[in-house]
Amino acid sequence: MFSITTFPKHGANPIYLYEKLHTPLHEEIVDFSVNVNPFEAPYDLSTIIPHFEKWLSDYPDPELTSVKNAISLYDQIDPGYLFIGNGASQCIFLLAQLFQNRTIGIVQPTFVEYKEACEIYGCTVKELKTTEKTDWQFNLEEIRDFMEGIDVLFLCNPNNPTGTVINQDRMKEVIEIGRETNTYLVIDEAFYDFSTINCSVVTEVEKQDHLIVLRSLTKMYKLAGIRIGYIVAAPSIINKVAAYSPPWSVNTLAAELAKHVLSLTNYPHDIKSRIRVERERVVNELKKLGYYVSPSSVNFYLLSDSFSEYKMKNLMKYLVANGVVPRHTYNFIGLDGKFLRLAVKDQRSNDVLLTHLKGWKQRC
Ligand SMILES: Cc1ncc(COP(=O)(O)O)c(C=O)c1O
Repeated sequence: MFSITTFPKHGANPIYLYEKLHTPLHEEIVDFSVNVNPFEAPYDLSTIIPHFEKWLSDYPDPELTSVKNAISLYDQIDPGYLFIGNGASQCIFLLAQLFQNRTIGIVQPTFVEYKEACEIYGCTVKELKTTEKTDWQFNLEEIRDFMEGIDVLFLCNPNNPTGTVINQDRMKEVIEIGRETNTYLVIDEAFYDFSTINCSVVTEVEKQDHLIVLRSLTKMYKLAGIRIGYIVAAPSIINKVAAYSPPWSVNTLAAELAKHVLSLTNYPHDIKSRIRVERERVVNELKKLGYYVSPSSVNFYLLSDSFSEYKMKNLMKYLVANGVVPRHTYNFIGLDGKFLRLAVKDQRSNDVLLTHLKGWKQRC
């Protein structure tokens, strides 16, 4: 009954999971499979509604100049270094198209879309695997050897699904290795604003032509259904990516909300602190119960009970039957179902999770 095709490819959509598992819907479902900000959104819909009719009928600005200016101010980067897309996902596919037929390196386990997108565009994909034994980190010699055999490195920092982070100083060393080995680096910073460790290298892009940074506004600002993300890279790269992109990929509502949320400079700091408090509390409790928890700095983490796929499959069934929906790890290379990815949510939801994870340990 359990096979990789049983499970959704991504988190979210718990109803689909219940259907696939032939499990009756629980009356109260808490979705831990989705890793967007669990707290209140930073926008007031009543301010949007008066403009809605015009936004529905008029074409968006194809150049997205005012959004680029807002990002430019936020990240202190020249607008010529920006491409705005329909979520970071579209940006990943456009970069895969840009690097078509080249040799790509991916540090695993990580977000599944890099490999899929690169393979669609005829790339050869090589993988460097990390494990829990090294806290999901690579060392500099390993990455240098790996980068010598590839044209482009995709690196997710903070990493989905482990929640682990390579700090900014170490990242600068990796960028330097990329310069020496003539390797482009695509650094996906979709979760950088949740990280309690400083890790962003966006300010390096203007100095390093081989560095490409990806950002998403859908996670922190709860815009997953509206879709907006961006690429920061040298203008020569930005112009090629823009040429591949269909016009009006970003709708006006997404553009207007992006400008609004980027002006709220305290909001991400506040959310990050609230998540940190909950993450530290939950992780402490889970470790006391004897679970493995990945050393996460963000709003999700990996959990395992004895690194056993069999046990985790049964734990997943148990949680789902009790209305708690985790993200399976069958399609993360190297995880193979031996872990579950769980979001850090609000206190009440986290308590529901802790209750069931305690219950599971008492049954075993
Ligand atoms: C690491 C990572 N990058 C990019 C994305 C895509 O984000 P977006 O919603 O902006 O397309 C995701 C979505 O889960 C992600 O986990």
